[in-house]
Amino acid sequence: MTIETRAHDAQALWQKDKDHFIHPFTDFSTFHEEGCDLITDSDGIYVQDAKGNRFIDGIAGLWCVNVGHGRREIGEAMADQATRMAYFSTFNNLSNAPAAELSARLAELAPAHLNHVFYSCGGSTANDATIRLVHYYFNRLGKPAKKRIISRNNAYHGTTYLAATLTGIASNNWDFDTLDHLVTHLSEANCYRRPEGMTEADYCDHLVREFEDTVAEIGADNIAAFIAEPIMGAGGVLVAPTDYHKRMQAVCRANDILYIADEVVTGFGRLGHFFASEAVYETQPDIINCAKGLSSGYAPLGATLISDTLYDVLSTPQGPGGVLSTGFTYSGHPVSCAAALKNIEIIEREGICENVREVGPYLEERLASLSHHATVGDVRGSHFMMCLENVADKQTKALFPVEARVGDRVAFEAQQRGLIIRPVGHLNIVSPPLIWTRETVDRVVDILDAALTATTATLKADGYL
Ligand SMILES: Cc1ncc(COP(=O)(O)O)c(C=O)c1O
Repeated sequence: MTIETRAHDAQALWQKDKDHFIHPFTDFSTFHEEGCDLITDSDGIYVQDAKGNRFIDGIAGLWCVNVGHGRREIGEAMADQATRMAYFSTFNNLSNAPAAELSARLAELAPAHLNHVFYSCGGSTANDATIRLVHYYFNRLGKPAKKRIISRNNAYHGTTYLAATLTGIASNNWDFDTLDHLVTHLSEANCYRRPEGMTEADYCDHLVREFEDTVAEIGADNIAAFIAEPIMGAGGVLVAPTDYHKRMQAVCRANDILYIADEVVTGFGRLGHFFASEAVYETQPDIINCAKGLSSGYAPLGATLISDTLYDVLSTPQGPGGVLSTGFTYSGHPVSCAAALKNIEIIEREGICENVREVGPYLEERLASLSHHATVGDVRGSHFMMCLENVADKQTKALFPVEARVGDRVAFEAQQRGLIIRPVGHLNIVSPPLIWTRETVDRVVDILDAALTATTATLKADGYL
């Protein structure tokens, strides 16, 4: 294909996309005019757009391409499975080889008590299915009042109806309806913006007390579960105070409330382990949800890892003819499961968790060096899950007005220099493929340094500084 043809194709594709594709989370104030950038090629830590521009991928697609792009062996595993047996039902006592194999692998990798897997198509459906299973579990135990789910402000758990209700980012639900009778939100754990003068330990006490007070108010008999991301992702890469998760779990245990860890982002290596709950935060969730890195984004897949205790109840028929009547056509899809199996093989073979444990602290340290910029209020996160919080005033932590679009500005300047990072309001997220080396980190930090300098200049020019 000549460059001219490619350019023509790119223009035609851009038009088709603009005319017909309703994109998720897209700002239509610019979309109607500008459309989208088409990403057409990828390789390792790089992606390329339709115009031939190459970028370092600083967001692993969308926190998911953990083993990096262009892995031929994953493509081949998927093609082999697709041509041998692309799809058959997993309902009614039928199964397939990759789903059986993957279930056993996940049971091996997960904390010891989580030995059973319920498959869905991604993170939202994993969370949605989980809440249905949790309600069913308590109904079966004769505790039908236990319905309320405790989530947190700024949590992100997806956008199916129930997952969107669990989500606590207010702007995500503007003018959408939510199932409010099912969910109560606690405060998020935001160490950077904790009350003035409060130590981190006191802040942790305060958050745990809020949970205890909420349980007392609603009544443990009415609460089914607490759901939390180990590190809150889309809500701002918020790392909770030390022992927060352990203490929240203790409140759950004391009140017969199930603890659900949403590891859709943290799972599969992002924090240096297949799962962060036990390895990093010393918690033993009743349920862990994962998606994204499970298949490194090569195929849609979500999984809910369920404890033996829950499974015993879920797997007891309601009575003659009773079945567990929930699941998806694509639960345990063979091609997705084949992708996940190959992905796990690569993570283990290449020591990708080890790489994250080795390079992650270096990424944290080098990004922290950007704090000298006038607009960088906080650099936070852990390992390959990082974020810059941009502020107008470091002393007061005051934000720029929304119309300054500071996150977009930084992302734009970075992209001009060959790096894609993710703007979320006034934040910029860095959540790369887990194969970045120290050398990649150095290149990325140089780009961000220049991007932040350029952003300060444009903010000044536009009267925001
Ligand atoms: C923690 C968390 N849970 C759930 C989801 C929803 O996953 P999906 O977009 O695959 O439905 C996301 C997506 O970013 C997420 O970050």
